[in-house]
Amino acid sequence: MDAYVNGVRLEYTDEGTGTPIVLLHAFPLNRTMWTPQLDPFSASFRTIAVDLRGHGGSSLSHTPYALEDLATDIKDLLDHLNIQEAIFVGLSMGGYILMAFYRLYADRVKALVFADTRAQADTADGRAARFEMVRTAETQGAAAIADIMIPRLLSAHTIQTNPALVGKVRAMILGNPVETIVADLRAMAARPDSIPLLAKIARPTRVLVGELDQGTPPSDARFMTERIPGARLAVLRDAGHLSNLENPQAFNQAVLSLLGEIGGTVIE
Ligand code: MLT
Repeated sequence: MDAYVNGVRLEYTDEGTGTPIVLLHAFPLNRTMWTPQLDPFSASFRTIAVDLRGHGGSSLSHTPYALEDLATDIKDLLDHLNIQEAIFVGLSMGGYILMAFYRLYADRVKALVFADTRAQADTADGRAARFEMVRTAETQGAAAIADIMIPRLLSAHTIQTNPALVGKVRAMILGNPVETIVADLRAMAARPDSIPLLAKIARPTRVLVGELDQGTPPSDARFMTERIPGARLAVLRDAGHLSNLENPQAFNQAVLSLLGEIGGTVIE
């Protein structure tokens, strides 16, 4: 399905009925990273997985963009779908976008799941590394970005034992234009510190993290959990940064337990 909103064409999957749940993907992937979540979530909830602008099948429009622009794309998609309020799951960059979304549109948020993400802005060194990756993308293309990103996204064990998953992640990265990869990197480098936001989050919240996540390790997840009122943490075994793909069963169970608590009927 697709919709023209906020000057871009967004492709999205919309399955199931009931309380809406919106899935926001990581850098530099697309909505198909949510494949293991679609059936379990849509059995009980209206599940919407969006290709962020410029990713997967969605159009890019202009660059640069800010993470706030991507958040507004999502808000406009909710308007288009006549959805007033949704549960949001954001993984890594999806989590950064969810923080921007909450800053701008808290009244549209029923509950939040932050997965494998962090509240801190980039350090000076982190920003310099992003600009180095911009140069790599511009000179060597998306394949070079895949080579850099795959060992950060997946645990060493997954890389050794699950070539099919590695191939899917690589295909998602190669499917994105270099312009999108560059715009994401610049937008993430410019994102503000969200630590002050954490204490203001007044909705049911789960924080999930793969126990082997190196980019946004369990210490980042603990830091967020301790500052969001009432938030609970789940550390997922045998998973790195893409915990929803590396341990989908534990990921789905953690999300569905939150959904059950906030009044949804979960069909097992
Ligand atoms: C992601 O998975 O979205 C990225 O690793 C986030 C980041 O680079 O900060």
